[in-house]
Amino acid sequence: MEWRAAALQNAGMSTAALPLIAIDGPSGVGKSTTAKRVATRLGWQYLDTGAMYRAAALAVRRAGIELSDRGALEHLLASLDLAQEQGRMFLAGEDVSEAIRSPEVTLLVTPVSADARVRELLVDQQRRIGASGRWVVDGRDIGTVVFTGACCKIFLTASPEARAQRRFLELQAKGQTPDFEAVLADLQRRDSADSTRAASPLRKADDATELDSSILNIDQVVEWIVQRHAAHV
Ligand code: DC
Repeated sequence: MEWRAAALQNAGMSTAALPLIAIDGPSGVGKSTTAKRVATRLGWQYLDTGAMYRAAALAVRRAGIELSDRGALEHLLASLDLAQEQGRMFLAGEDVSEAIRSPEVTLLVTPVSADARVRELLVDQQRRIGASGRWVVDGRDIGTVVFTGACCKIFLTASPEARAQRRFLELQAKGQTPDFEAVLADLQRRDSADSTRAASPLRKADDATELDSSILNIDQVVEWIVQRHAAHV
């Protein structure tokens, strides 16, 4: 199939179920780790859409532009060169996988990902990528906007406290000395921004299945999704 036709089909314009697993949910719920492992189990590819928004935020930061300067933003977006390979994120050929996780980018990605023009461009790129082959895609709007025809939609949740506890332990394992209340407050800030923005807010698709992972470990979550997918095919 010619790529544009395939992209339109995967964009939800066909009623046929697409070979795509959409995993949406709030920050810190473990979507990326889960999605990567589900993809490995199925022999499918994995697309981290959050990393794309982060790379766009890094590009905005490096260019030193204000989002309110629409001309400068359009100029930047016109040449935004993003790629993902082997789980690494590239911006104009540079591996920025670590740089996009900095606290500065984590703050800036909230307004950048709320920008309708940024979303339009990245959603288009995501649809083109997903048009080829079988993908596990994680994000906030995958089941509701990007791939409404995905064959399997999961809305992964966990309480803010459970997510903050996981993040706290991750940071400790990296040798940092995090403050639990600060970690929780940052997650709540991101939850509120993601679910109240005008452009594609975080919400469960009507046909998604919700999984509350508060008391599950990663193996149980991965197994549940793989079984759920098997039941759909
Ligand atoms: O999943 P993450 O924390 O790496 O995502 C980074 C930011 O991008 C987060 O603020 C939410 C946003 N995002 C989005 O708006 N839509 C997506 N499909 C993926 C992420």
